[in-house]
Amino acid sequence: MTILGIDIGGSGVKGAPVDTVRGELTAERYRVPTPQPSDVTSVVEAVAEVAGQFGDYERVGVTFPGVVVDGVTRTAANVDRSWLEAPAARLFSERLGRPVSVLNDADAAGVAEVAFGAGRDERGLVMMLTFGTGIGSALFLDGTLIPNTELGHLELDGKDAELRASDRAREQEDLSWEKWAGRVQDYLRHVEMLLSPRLFIVGGGVSKKADKWLPLLEIRTPIVPATLLNNAGIIGAAVTAEQADGHPGAVQVEADRPGVVGAAAGRSGN
Ligand code: BGC
Repeated sequence: MTILGIDIGGSGVKGAPVDTVRGELTAERYRVPTPQPSDVTSVVEAVAEVAGQFGDYERVGVTFPGVVVDGVTRTAANVDRSWLEAPAARLFSERLGRPVSVLNDADAAGVAEVAFGAGRDERGLVMMLTFGTGIGSALFLDGTLIPNTELGHLELDGKDAELRASDRAREQEDLSWEKWAGRVQDYLRHVEMLLSPRLFIVGGGVSKKADKWLPLLEIRTPIVPATLLNNAGIIGAAVTAEQADGHPGAVQVEADRPGVVGAAAGRSGN
């Protein structure tokens, strides 16, 4: 069964077919720029354009940079406000004519890192944090995702943490690595005080330059860069889509009525 993973990011919508057993892309990924404004209709079309590059496929996982509950997008911190309460899984599924699961972008990246990357074989509480346009978080207990933690919005120095410590803040304020690492350190100390994870995994584009800032951090918790880098979201989305059979976040196209879409039965998952 071919499963596509598609990652909606601040600057690009990227996708590829994924081998969900090995955690690898089976074809080169295809990318289109994220539409601006990033409203629902335009982004659904961008996702369809990416999916259209890959011939036949049976199921799709899509990441979204906000809270996603039962396939509905609940927040839109860094995308167009039309995503607030949008029935995303249904909209993608109707457009693509296949079952689609939608989950938070950091959760997807974490799923991939925990299954195949830096968090493999780790027990206990593991936290993935992505530093990009915002700060994304994904929390795992013994490998099981606790979705939609949104710890990037903790308060830091009286502000939303992602406004102070995201990679965008570093770029916009032209911060030195030392200065930015100081803010990241304050943030991580706050998170470790609240949750005492066993391991932090850091992802997002800036994790490729981990040698410039990870050694500057003085925190108690072991911290490692993500290993799947750009592809973590795509892989995690596809793995989730594969597992979503029967979960409400995955919208099924009814087999006897092609093109007619209804929410699948089931309880958990998103
Ligand atoms: C959003 C999160 C998302 C993160 C990274 C935050 O602003 O609230 O849902 O995971 O950005 O994209």
